[in-house]
Amino acid sequence: MFTHNMKLAEIVQSDYNTLNVINRFGIKLGFGEKTVSTVCAHYGINAGFFLEILNAYHDPNYFPQKHLQSFSVGEIVEYLRKTHRSYIDEEIPFIEQLMNQMLKDCNNPQEIRPILKFFGDYKTELFNHLTWEDDKIFPYTLDVEEAFTTGNKLQEVIVAMHSYSMSDFLDEHDDIESKLYDINTLFIKYVPPVSNQVVCVRMLKEFSLLQKDINNHARIEEKVLAPKVIEMEKVLIQKQ
Ligand SMILES: [Fe+2]
Ligand SMILES: [Fe+2]
Repeated sequence: MFTHNMKLAEIVQSDYNTLNVINRFGIKLGFGEKTVSTVCAHYGINAGFFLEILNAYHDPNYFPQKHLQSFSVGEIVEYLRKTHRSYIDEEIPFIEQLMNQMLKDCNNPQEIRPILKFFGDYKTELFNHLTWEDDKIFPYTLDVEEAFTTGNKLQEVIVAMHSYSMSDFLDEHDDIESKLYDINTLFIKYVPPVSNQVVCVRMLKEFSLLQKDINNHARIEEKVLAPKVIEMEKVLIQKQ
């Protein structure tokens, strides 16, 4: 388990995948001998929240949802939004670059096109999902928190809650990570011999990293954000 007094460099060395999380918090590389506390103080980051996310990311069995729920909806949503941006601006474009490279190196590009089409469709679905959360779900959760803590927007939130509550979100929140798993399987099984296998292996690694990341992201939405908002909704409904 990662703690406040550990050096950030040691955390990265013990799990290089934590670099994704570190990057999303806006922390630049070159932290030298600095501990988590020192780095977080330097960047004005809540070290407790940062550590919870790092630990949840590093170990699927470490998921203290109760503890994570002690952070504000604002903090949780800010991190989730940053994660969306990293999928849209960095991770998916990088996979596409590798795919284009693979396509160039492939002896018979036609053989590979169906899988690329499958990935293209997945990307559209993923981006629609992220936009739906950014534009509809996250603003609603922030309004619920505001109504809960200050009483502002109470009527507005109650009306919104009747047409679409956080429980509806949980019912509808689809399984975008299992589709990524399917694409990964398709690639492993059916990618034809390519002249540059290095690129292909690299892409498969990126796929599994993204799959793990999206899985973790969805867990925070379903096991931390949604239950926290549902608890607030229950209180608000009594006030109407
Ligand atoms: Fe999301
Ligand atoms: Fe989601």
